[in-house]
Amino acid sequence: MSEGHSTYTPKTGIGRWFDSRMPLPRLVYDSFIAYPVPRNLNYAWTFGGILALMLAAQILTGIVLAMHYAADSTLAFDSVEKIMRDVNSGWLLRYLHSNGASFFFIAVYIHIFRGLYYGSYKAPRELLWILGCIIYLLMMATGFMGYVLPWGQMSFWGATVITGFFTAIPLVGDWIQQLLLGGFAVDNPTLNRFFALHYLLPFMIAGVVVLHIWALHVVGQNNPTGIEVKSKTDTLAFTPYATIKDGFGMIVFLLVFAYFVFYLPNYLGHPDNYTVANPLKTPAHIVPEWYFLPFYAILRAITFNIGPINSKLGGVLCLFGAIVMLFLVPWLDTSKVRSAVYRPWYKLFFWLFVADSILLGWLGSQPAEGSYVFMAQMATLFYFAFFLVALPVLGLIEKPRRLPNSITEAVLEKNKGGGGHPAGATAAPETKG
Ligand code: HEM
Repeated sequence: MSEGHSTYTPKTGIGRWFDSRMPLPRLVYDSFIAYPVPRNLNYAWTFGGILALMLAAQILTGIVLAMHYAADSTLAFDSVEKIMRDVNSGWLLRYLHSNGASFFFIAVYIHIFRGLYYGSYKAPRELLWILGCIIYLLMMATGFMGYVLPWGQMSFWGATVITGFFTAIPLVGDWIQQLLLGGFAVDNPTLNRFFALHYLLPFMIAGVVVLHIWALHVVGQNNPTGIEVKSKTDTLAFTPYATIKDGFGMIVFLLVFAYFVFYLPNYLGHPDNYTVANPLKTPAHIVPEWYFLPFYAILRAITFNIGPINSKLGGVLCLFGAIVMLFLVPWLDTSKVRSAVYRPWYKLFFWLFVADSILLGWLGSQPAEGSYVFMAQMATLFYFAFFLVALPVLGLIEKPRRLPNSITEAVLEKNKGGGGHPAGATAAPETKG
């Protein structure tokens, strides 16, 4: 799609001079102005841009916070309180950054579920998907380490519990745990290395995002029909069409974000983290941040030994397995049709999977006892069955609905039915590429 020759023509002498030496304006023009996008993209496709915005916001607010933060276990908690009370607009910076992490994850979950719904991981977008999964892993590591920095009770005990799970890995487990902690328990060396890595990882994420978008621009965007672009009438120029739509999506997203920052700044946090870390006092319930809860529920669902694998190792294996599933999706799904719009059974299982993920999240916030454990076991079973059974089997047995011949046909058909905007004459002429 984007491999067509460039249509950029520098208009000024200096533009031509620059272009023949380092064609950066050409790259921007070809990637963000003339770049052809499918004409039927809906608002789910604005989340890639929203994620890029949130990543930039996290890096900026994080750098300024780091100017006031002290990565020393005797000072960290107080330095955060100083940021909240004494640093000019420090409270705002901190709330933007802590709620920003949550909203970054909200956006990434919508982005991932969008990909699963419309089959965006299917050939030729497997590598694009894998790069996304790597970003997600890096985001999880960054979020986990960031939560330790305020050195509150939940920071300390969360780090203790999660790093403790590594000891379940045979032979190398203890070594990994000590490497992470910088010793035998969560302490000052742990805080130092978590701070260093928390500062480093977002830049690595930014690097992988560049690869992600590069891969996207090679294969082109998928769209709600899942049918590839076949002719120029199927596309629109990125600017103004996608730019305006992305901009509107970002504004709405930022309004909701602002509501949380200004009216519910601690809603997504945990009150225990406003108490300084105390190695001698374990909180009643240790819970990670909300965006890890589904995985936390999976980890704790394995309460029994499986042959030589004890329950602790079983939980850790299931936790990692749950993430590995995402990496394997392009090869687990056997369907020839991409989009769930034309796959009635897959659509049903997709929504069950969404419900299952939410249920796991809720169970992760509950104590691991009584009926919660059984529910978490069933939800974990469904989680894996979705990837290992539903995805391969449905692709073989499901009879998809009739696909339109092209994106344009789908758009025109939809508009004939009264839904959506008039097809308009805006499609082809603006599209270059
Ligand atoms: C910092 C995090 C991320 C950023 C900034 C980012 C950015 C983007 C952008 C700008 C697009 C194009 C617009 C769109 O389709 O929404 C995109 C598409 C895509 N992303 Fe991401 N992404 C991120 C994380 C992820 C993750 C975690 C996954 C999956 C595990 C993923 C999978 C995809 C896929 C499959 C597409 C192609 C979608 C399509 O064309 O239908 N991305 N991403």
